[in-house]
Amino acid sequence: MGIAVIPLDPADQTAVDEAYRIGAAVEAADLPDFPPYCRRRFEGMVRHPMPGIAAHWALARLDGEPAGWLRLFLPQLDNTENASAELRVHPEYRRRGVGRALHEHGLRVLREAGRKRVVASVADNLPGAPERESPGPAFAAAVGAHPALADVRSRLDVTARDQRRLDALLADARAAAAGYRIVRWRQHTPEEYVADVAYLEGRMVTDAPTGDLQWEQEQIDADRIRGTERALDARGVRHYSVGAVHEASGRLVAWSMLSLAANTTWHAWQQSTIVDPEHRGHRLGRLAKIENLEHVLAYEPGLRAIDTYNAADNAHMIAINEQLGFRPVDGSTDWQLTL
Ligand SMILES: CC(C)(COP(=O)(O)OP(=O)(O)OC[C@H]1O[C@@H](n2cnc3c(N)ncnc32)[C@H](O)[C@@H]1OP(=O)(O)O)[C@@H](O)C(=O)NCCC(=O)NCCS
Repeated sequence: MGIAVIPLDPADQTAVDEAYRIGAAVEAADLPDFPPYCRRRFEGMVRHPMPGIAAHWALARLDGEPAGWLRLFLPQLDNTENASAELRVHPEYRRRGVGRALHEHGLRVLREAGRKRVVASVADNLPGAPERESPGPAFAAAVGAHPALADVRSRLDVTARDQRRLDALLADARAAAAGYRIVRWRQHTPEEYVADVAYLEGRMVTDAPTGDLQWEQEQIDADRIRGTERALDARGVRHYSVGAVHEASGRLVAWSMLSLAANTTWHAWQQSTIVDPEHRGHRLGRLAKIENLEHVLAYEPGLRAIDTYNAADNAHMIAINEQLGFRPVDGSTDWQLTL
């Protein structure tokens, strides 16, 4: 029978379940310290793509057995020549051409859609770390992609945090942040801040280091933030934000967000942290992060670990994270392929 690749219909529950089980098996094998693969998040990703993004999913069968999947995101509002991809092959079915078959299917879809570049994040080891099998980089190189941006994943062991040190860092940040007031919210952004959050989120791509990645600034407005919040609701994600308001202008000028998947109480992802360039140098980044740690712990007492990805050369953000107690765990590289 060999390999068959077919588009995955989001309404086909059996196929969605098969794809979920492949994703769960891949993560358990390749990233065993990750939180458990979340079914609600996965189904939400398949059925409720983020606003402004068209998604294409394909499932591969090997001799009739579900063996792998490909997910493509095609931005519609910006980056209309770009796309991002995720490719997963079940550990039991690797090195039999399934990855390559999915990749070739993806190339056809992307070419028909007029895309010129595709990018995928691929987990790898930190330089100098003990070797562990890491097929992703070998595969990405084999299909002609180039490493464009190196990221580091760092983890905070929340149970081992040094609270006295955090208190001292917080006091120091508060002293440097005179004229700013901290605001906290859970889930949806308060209406008065949503335009500022859109502005800050839109800067993320251009302000954080992007290496050789060719990715344009994203067009993000208040409607798109609301759409993203609805998509996160559909995934069952709990999220916690802290912002800093510049008292003289009333604008929200710094923002940091943590999120937890529906199926976990012990693990959170550190999402965006960004300070408006005009308001840097007041320790607002550090302030927002430490305040948000207190914030999340007030609601999530079982939290034990927070993971964050940073560009390996984002020295400022990494320095803040290290002060808080984050330590590097592994790496991830964005590989870009020109079609
Ligand atoms: C990377 C991954 C998708 C490859 O799937 P696969 O079905 O095993 O890939 P294929 O059999 O089509 O391999 C194609 C080529 O990639 C390279 N390759 C794949 N795995 C490799 C490994 N472990 N070591 C060395 N080369 C490897 C080889 O050149 C291979 O060709 P060959 O078998 O003729 O030598 C799979 O290992 C996986 O799901 N890994 C975890 C997720 C991930 O890293 N995805 C990366 C893209 S987003």
